[in-house]
Amino acid sequence: MSSSRAARTIPALKRTAKNAHFWGVVVLLALLLFIYQAWPWVPIHFRSGIWSAFSWLSVLEPLVLHVEIPFHFFGSLFLIPVVYGSLMLGWQGGMFAWFVSLFWSIPTLLSWSNGVHWISLALLLIPVLLVAILIGERRWRESERTHFVEREQERKAYIAKLVEAEETERRRIAQELHDETLQTLMVIANKSEALARAETDSTQAQGNLWVKQQVLSTMDDLRRLSMNLRPSILDNFGLVSGIRWLVNNSNAQDGCHVDISVHGEAPEMSSLAEVTAFRVVQEALNNIQKHSEAAGAEVTVDFDTDRLHIQVSDDGVGFEPPERLGAFVVESKLGVMGMEQRVTSIGGEMRLESYPGSGTRIWVSIPYEASVQVV
Ligand SMILES: Nc1ncnc2c1ncn2[C@@H]1O[C@H](COP(=O)(O)OP(=O)(O)OP(=O)(O)O)[C@@H](O)[C@H]1O
Ligand SMILES: [Mg+2]
Repeated sequence: MSSSRAARTIPALKRTAKNAHFWGVVVLLALLLFIYQAWPWVPIHFRSGIWSAFSWLSVLEPLVLHVEIPFHFFGSLFLIPVVYGSLMLGWQGGMFAWFVSLFWSIPTLLSWSNGVHWISLALLLIPVLLVAILIGERRWRESERTHFVEREQERKAYIAKLVEAEETERRRIAQELHDETLQTLMVIANKSEALARAETDSTQAQGNLWVKQQVLSTMDDLRRLSMNLRPSILDNFGLVSGIRWLVNNSNAQDGCHVDISVHGEAPEMSSLAEVTAFRVVQEALNNIQKHSEAAGAEVTVDFDTDRLHIQVSDDGVGFEPPERLGAFVVESKLGVMGMEQRVTSIGGEMRLESYPGSGTRIWVSIPYEASVQVV
């Protein structure tokens, strides 16, 4: 044995000696081998002792005498440590149990008649086959599981990247609308007003004032569009102000009144966590306005030690959620599924509870450190 192999083997042996399952296999083997040595290898006579009650089984007697059912039955008990060893310790465990039983039983088997020990030796190969099947199946399952986990991580990273790119693009468009388009429109409005004042012809003056009004109302529309794309309040004043702004906007519409309660202080958090929380509340409030027919709703924000919990609930008509939220996507309903994808892609959790007639409750938990985990 080369020194490097010895260096690897000795710690492996020490690890094995500390493994409770290894000792489990040893105890099982010792028990079976003890019974094996002590077993009186006499065939059962179905007409004597307890078996006399089962004399109708006497048709089996030739089998017992010629194929030695008790022996083979007992032999099959050796499968227990072999299967247990291979399940708990891998193929080495199974082979260890098999070798020990083989080593112990071969002298007895060889002392028997030819026909019997060939059958017995052939039967002893069954455990090897069993171990091979068990190990092969387990490896296949493990590789499938690893592939699945990897694919799932890639999918989540991809969604988080998409969300990040979408938010960057929204912010760029909102900024451009604010800094360029709205400024230019403001200049046009001022110019129209100046022209209206300088004009002596009243028709011309009114025309210029009309242009000014149209420009101002277009500016209002653009400001709203820009805010919805990416509210500057979120970037400038943080998540709580952003959520309060959403709630105020919702209350400005007719119908449902939304309350908000905030517990704890907002700590430093990644912008991805912040924008995810904001978009969840935004979509939940949109859904309340659109579908719930509720009279009241509540947004609760709870800043925990390393996570942020948000709950949005309403007392509206509720609905029967499908078993998998993905079913909504088939019907081109993207809001709820989008929320879940956003939240889980950054390591958060989401739960939705709704019953017809009993309102709807959405609960999310988002880690402050949320970031895109590129696999
Ligand atoms: N608060 C709620 N009260 C009652 N029903 C709701 C509520 N929230 C969601 N739903 C139901 O769940 C469905 C899915 O909502 P989701 O937000 O995914 O889609 P949507 O609002 O219909 O469309 P989108 O959000 O894509 O514009 C809705 O069509 C509605 O039937
Ligand atoms: Mg929706």
